[in-house]
This record gives sequence, structure tokens and C-alpha cells, in this order.
Amino acid sequence: MRGGPVVEGSYRSTYEFSCREPERFWLDAAAAIDWDKPPRQALDDSAAPIYRWFPGAELNTSANALDRHVAAGQGDAVALVYDSAMLGTRRRYTYRELLQEVELFAGALQARGVGRGDRVIIYLPMVPEAVVAMLAAARLGAVHSVVFGGFAPRELAARIEDAQPSAIVTCSGGIEPARRVEYLPAVAAALALSGHRVADVIVKARSGFEHTVGSFGAGRDAGDTRWHDWDELAAEAGPAGPVSVAATDPLYILYTSGTTGAPKGVVRDNGSHAVALAWSMKNIYNVGPGDVMFTASDVGWVVGHSYIVYGPLLAGATTVLYEGKPVGTPDAGAFWRVVRDHRVNVLFTAPTALRAIRKADPEAALVRQYDTSSLRTLFAAGERLDPETCRWAAAALGVPVIDHWWQTETGWPIAANPVGLEQLPVKPGSPSVPVPGYRLMVVDGAGEPVPAGVEGNIVIKLPLPPGTLATLWGSDERFIQSYLKVFDGYYATGDSGYLDEDGYLFVMGRTDDVINVSGHRLSTGAMEQVVAAHPAVAECAVIGVADPVKGQRPSGYVVLKQGSEIDEAQLRAELVARVREQIGPVADFKDVRVVPALPKTRSGKILRKTMRQMADGAEYTVPSTIEDPSVLDELLPVLRGAARPAAGEPGPRP
Ligand code: COA
Ligand code: AMP
Repeated sequence: MRGGPVVEGSYRSTYEFSCREPERFWLDAAAAIDWDKPPRQALDDSAAPIYRWFPGAELNTSANALDRHVAAGQGDAVALVYDSAMLGTRRRYTYRELLQEVELFAGALQARGVGRGDRVIIYLPMVPEAVVAMLAAARLGAVHSVVFGGFAPRELAARIEDAQPSAIVTCSGGIEPARRVEYLPAVAAALALSGHRVADVIVKARSGFEHTVGSFGAGRDAGDTRWHDWDELAAEAGPAGPVSVAATDPLYILYTSGTTGAPKGVVRDNGSHAVALAWSMKNIYNVGPGDVMFTASDVGWVVGHSYIVYGPLLAGATTVLYEGKPVGTPDAGAFWRVVRDHRVNVLFTAPTALRAIRKADPEAALVRQYDTSSLRTLFAAGERLDPETCRWAAAALGVPVIDHWWQTETGWPIAANPVGLEQLPVKPGSPSVPVPGYRLMVVDGAGEPVPAGVEGNIVIKLPLPPGTLATLWGSDERFIQSYLKVFDGYYATGDSGYLDEDGYLFVMGRTDDVINVSGHRLSTGAMEQVVAAHPAVAECAVIGVADPVKGQRPSGYVVLKQGSEIDEAQLRAELVARVREQIGPVADFKDVRVVPALPKTRSGKILRKTMRQMADGAEYTVPSTIEDPSVLDELLPVLRGAARPAAGEPGPRP
């Protein structure tokens, strides 16, 4: 079925305009950006199926996020509020102050030889320096790649290998509720693992950590890499002005999980990113100058890139950078405290965070302890917002709760309730309707549209709108094969779902081996690679099973090599440790079981989907191609023991 509005009103007319006249629609939207050379053309389709937006135009994203607001007299407006529940501190940066920090750090990078097109890896927790480093790289026309702190050195090394950065920007470490995470040994280990030589590592010192930049030979050659103290470099540097870049120059690479162990480097261009985010701030989030947006995510994820850093700053609003958790720092009232303290208008978080808060405070007693009257809307994304949590949050806060669906690849919402344009009725369980610019359809395996109410593959007709991925770093071919060749003429989202009679989308799950744990996208394939490398393991499967708070959590099943005499408990502990060391704690891989055999088709394909359905207590289908049905019978009690079914309704199924 073709997506598109059945509802009437300004959303409908805008959506139809975006499909009918995309060239005009996006050139109009481009007027929200300050260009050094304005675009005369929106779409460049000369290399289809790879499309670029705003060819020939030039701009600087950092100047659009900072300088233009200062030049317009908004220098004293608050750009960034850093609120650390971990340290009990907070700090406000006006636009002028943030610009000064960015100019100086850009100067420091420039002095180390970083320039247009060079890559800079940013490995930082939720500290203001993460925002400064991103905007400083963008100021020079360099390409940043932020790596989430919960990944292990091997994952960092894979990103270094792929992005080939000239510099890494990091700090002493991150603070988790139960421990301090030392970043510097992780960076050193990643550099040792990677074959690429990184010229400079720049370290922001944080107190309370064991390792300092001095341990790694600050200021002098330590191996092939020079380590520097951030503050010293910035003190020596002069301010750097914004470098005009092509709209089609990459702004950043953000790695995300695919079905294999090799992460995909999503490339986002400067011009199309700025235009799409500015459009979304106004029309989806309804946030502009004077408004405060609090996106409780991490700068290491796409949500953090778009709606902690770039979106709010492009819009001239105030963004809240929160270093803390939804629960336990100190309690489930943490978000409401931040809303009160900073007069937050729009809150954006992941459903898992809401479920964690609800579990700790089911009666929402903590909400009532804070004045949350500034709040207008709560947005949720990262995974499907289950109807029960949606209703709980709406009742607790007394504001509309808006689920919206998107991916690292798209960088901004594909389906949403466009509150800024027109607030449509909320249907719990649905992220509402296709966003203008996205020609969304649901098709069967052969690529044929399916009727309303029938589940199928969610695809987007090419070209994708501005702001979405331009390609995968270093591999147009992988981009084409992974996303554009699955259904000819469409981008395959990898999600399945259906459109109802009103044109509302229901996203039901992934069609591949990607899972979503606490709103974090992870590859079971990558975990399987680690598990399978253990000398006692003959074969294995890792599936995502339902979890009441985390949405899903990984569960591993291993078959031992014949004659293996390893103790099962020891094997389990070793496998858990290996995944933690090689992928990172964020994988949350804690559950692994030894089984006599895995169910397979006659051609040897492991029936992971059937296993997942059995574990979740859902109806399951056994393919006629199964090699030995008795394997499933033996496995059923083990799988049923693995699941902790999600709380609330399973969600609408046609
Ligand atoms: N650096 C280092 N380690 C990290 C990390 C980081 N930035 N983030 C998470 N981890 C670690 C945790 O310390 C934990 O390690 P442990 O096994 O030693 O305890 C592990 O990764 C899993 O952490 P987490 O996913 O946070 O699970 P949790 O059980 O500690 O907390 C929630 C559950 C729901 C409270 C938490 O996952 C949460 O806040 N989720 C929201 C996520 C979010 O905002 N996602 C945004 C995507 S849009
Ligand atoms: P990420 O790239 O980490 O943002 O993860 C994207 C994936 O998360 C999507 O492909 C979906 O599978 C899932 N997802 C994100 N938001 C939603 C949502 N609102 N509803 C359902 N699934 C979602």
C-alpha cells in the first residue's frame, strides 16, 4: 500500500506538495539556512540511484548553528545547558560563549593540520566538549565521526580503520552509575589494534580518573601518535573562522549496526542535513528561538547528533545536554527535575527510558513533585512506543506523547505526528503518518504493494529526501547492495509493518538480524561472530528476546564441539566476557545457553525468526524446509525459559 495522508488539513496539503513538487518544496525549505552560495537546484539525480541535494551550493554548518544567531543579536541567548546528574553540576553556555569555545577548539584542530575533508573521531561521553568538538570539526569542513562510549576498543578500532581519521578527540573517561569508564586505555588499545596511523589524540582532562594524558606521553612522540591536552592546545590556538564547504561535502560519518560484524558508516552531507533538520525543528517538533529542547539520548547515537546538537542549534533554541540516566541518578524523577530546572518545552526520549521510569514509579508520584508545566510535548523514538507506556506517560505528564519512527540512516523522522505543522490525532502504537518528503510504501516480498492493514516490508520510494544518508563511507556499492537493490527503485528500511485505513503506519519489527536493546541498535550477527570464535563452540545463534524494560535483550544458544569437555558455567562466563570485551558493555549480552542442536532448514540456514517467536511466546511458523522438526520440540522449553514477555499489550497486529 502506498503511504500518504487520508487525513485532511495542512499536513495533507504539505505532504502532497512535497511529493508533487519536491524541487520547489526543498528549495523553499532551503531558505531557512544561511548559504555562502545559495542553491539554484535542489536534486542532483545525475548519478542515480545515488542522489545528492543542493549541488553547487555552499555553506558552513557550524556557522549556521552558531555565528548566524550571534550576528542576529541572539548572542546572549542560552545555546547549551549542561546538566550532569552524575556530578551534580550544571553549566550554561550562551550562543556567544559556545561560539568562542568552538572557534578556539577549531583553531586547535587547525593547528594540528586538520582541514576540509579530514576525518576526526570523537570519543566522548555526554560533556559539552562533545558538542564543541563536533561543531569545531564542522567549522573546518572536517568530517566528524562520534563513537559511543559503551563500545569496546575493538569497535573503536574498526571505526578508525574505516574512517582513517587524522585526529581523535577524547577525554579521561565517562561516568556510569556503578563505575568510572577509563577512556584513555581504550583509545590506546584501539590504536594498537588498528593498522591506521592517527597523527593526534586530544584529551580533555576530567578529574577522578586513573589515566591522564601524561601517561601516554603528552606533547611528545609516543609511538606514531602525539597525545595532547585539550586545554593547552586551545590556549595556544587562535580562533578559526568557518570554512565554506560544498553542500554535498560530508558533515559526518556515523557508524551503525548492520547484519554483519562490519559497522556501516552512514554519510550525511552538510547542505541537505541542515535543510532537513531546520524543517523538522519547525514542522515536527515545533521548536524555535526561545524554546528549550531536552533530548535524553547520547551524542554517540543519531538522535543525539540531530536533536541534542544540530537541530536545536540550527533553530536558535536551547538544548539540554544531560549526563545521567532516567533512573538511579538519583531516582526516577531525574527527567522531571531537569524539565523543571531548565523550563524544558519539548522532551525527547526512548521508550525504554519511560518504561524504566514507570517500573520504578508506577503511580507517577515523582512527576507530581516537580513543576513540569513548561512541557508541551513528549517525543519518543528508538523503538516502538508500546501503547500502555504511551498512555501512562500521557496521563502522568498531561501532554501529548508522540511516537515517531526513524533510523540512523535517515537522520530525521520518516513517520511522525507533525506537531508543528498540524497536530493529528494520536493512535497509540503508531508513529503516525509519513513525514513530507518521504514517499512511503508497504510491499510484499516481490515488491508489490500490499493492501491497508496487511503487514509487509516498509520501503521509501527513491529519491530519499534531504538529510538522509548520501552513501556509506567508502563504499557506494555497499550502500546500493544493502539498501537500494532489495526492492528496485526503493530504499529498504529493514523494518516491517503496515499502514491502516487512515494512512497511519504501524512499525512491527526488523526483517533482519538487527535488534534493539534499550533503544540501542545492535547486530546479533556481530555477537555471533564473537561467540562462534570460542574454541569450544561448534555453532551458535544469538536472537533478541522480549524484555519488559529494554524492549529486547540478546540471548545466545550454543552447540558444543564434539568431545568438548568445558564446564557449562565456565563457558557461559567466558562468552559473556568475550562479547563485553570485543563489542562492549552496551551489547548487554548476559544470557547464553548450551543446547544439543539448532533448528535449521535443509540448506543449513538457522531458523532464528522461529526461535525468536517461540521465545517470545508468539505464534510461530515452522518452515516446510526444516531439516529436523524434533530439534524445535527439544528447544521449546529452553526458549520459553529465556523470555520475559514485554509488559502491556503486544501491540496491534492486522
Ligand atoms: N559508556 C560505557 N558504558 C556504558 C555506556 C556508556 N556511555 N552506556 C551504557 N553502558 C554500559 C552500562 O554501564 C551497562 O554496563 P554493566 O553491564 O556493567 O551494568 C551496560 O552498558 C548496559 O547499560 P544500559 O543499556 O544503560 O542498561 P542498564 O540496565 O544499565 O539501564 C536503562 C537500563 C533503560 C535505564 C538504560 O538503558 C537507558 O537509560 N536507556 C535509554 C537509552 C537511550 O536513551 N537510548 C537513546 C537511543 S535514541
Ligand atoms: P537506529 O538506527 O539506532 O536509530 O535504529 C533504527 C531502528 O530502530 C529502526 O529501523 C526501527 O527498527 C527501530 N525504531 C526506531 N524508532 C522506532 C519507532 N518509533 N517505532 C518502531 N521502531 C523504531
